Amino acid sequence: MNGGIRKVLSWTRMLTEFVLVCSYSLSVELSKTIFHIVVPRKCKDIKGETVLVTGAARGIGRELALKLSTLGCHVICVDINAEGIMRTAQDIVKMGHKAQAYTCDVTDNTAVEELAKKVGYVDILVNNAGLLYFDPILNTPPSSVSKVLETNVASHFLMIRNFLPGMLERNKGHIVAIASCCGLIALANVTLYTSSKYAVVGLMGSLTEELKLLGRSNIKTTCVCPYLVRTIPEIDSEVDARIPPLEAVDAAREIVKGILQERGMFTVPNYLRSVITTYSLLPDNTSSRLKDVIYTRIKHGVM
Ligand SMILES: NC(=O)c1ccc[n+]([C@@H]2O[C@H](COP(=O)([O-])OP(=O)(O)OC[C@H]3O[C@@H](n4cnc5c(N)ncnc54)[C@H](O)[C@@H]3O)[C@@H](O)[C@H]2O)c1
Repeated sequence: MNGGIRKVLSWTRMLTEFVLVCSYSLSVELSKTIFHIVVPRKCKDIKGETVLVTGAARGIGRELALKLSTLGCHVICVDINAEGIMRTAQDIVKMGHKAQAYTCDVTDNTAVEELAKKVGYVDILVNNAGLLYFDPILNTPPSSVSKVLETNVASHFLMIRNFLPGMLERNKGHIVAIASCCGLIALANVTLYTSSKYAVVGLMGSLTEELKLLGRSNIKTTCVCPYLVRTIPEIDSEVDARIPPLEAVDAAREIVKGILQERGMFTVPNYLRSVITTYSLLPDNTSSRLKDVIYTRIKHGVM
């Protein structure tokens, strides 16, 4: 058989396999989606488990810590803001639940190693700490580039490097990343933040594949992509968006639900994933027109 025919056969085989796997997976997923409209997805019980949340001093992280604590787990609250993190842990304890506060800069490898030694095993690691950074590319100084990428991406590597070994040892665990819809769709005046969130989505996808290759399906991964959440006043004053921002408490409730259902990747609100998938399937001109219909415009240099 000559090389040309072999190439054609190999491509035909790959295309056939691709179409078969796609049709099979899509029909399974579609049936599951329809089934779960009637029967809610099963949620795991995390009572008695240890859950670590970074960036828990305020915003989404604080709401996640409060909500998770009500499910009977022991919440390890971590943040660079010492006063804020004490407040979150105290509020949880006042509600009659279990929490501990640790002040830690998640971009500092030594600090993260010390944290891991003090905390020990965690069942669920929620990498939430992040910096919201909106600015046009030419207003973005190199110092901000390193700070945002270190906080929003590199910190996930440090946390995973220090907490995944314990999960592998026990063959049990769950790693959650709070990415953003900005990690799925590109908007203007937010290049640095968008780069960091695309990186987190990629990191989580690759980590999932790595765990699969290791045969560690007991260690779950979840990548959450929330839409705008009202955690800072500028979200209202400086962002012009057709879909109104969410409240942190509502976003946290949806995030916790997705974690308990061990979903691999989801947006908050849920329906945005379909909108974003539609964008990506359309040709450039059409998708950009669709972006003009469901717009989120970040004003010039607001933060
Ligand atoms: N607010 C939104 O519109 C929105 C939307 C999608 C995704 N997100 C993501 O959700 C996460 C939380 O966002 P938020 O709006 O609650 O932010 P926030 O600014 O209200 O809270 C972030 C927390 O992270 C902490 N933090 C920052 N750097 C840290 C470091 N180096 N070490 C330890 N802690 C550190 C801060 O002290 C703060 O308590 C972020 O990753 C953000 O990118 C936010």
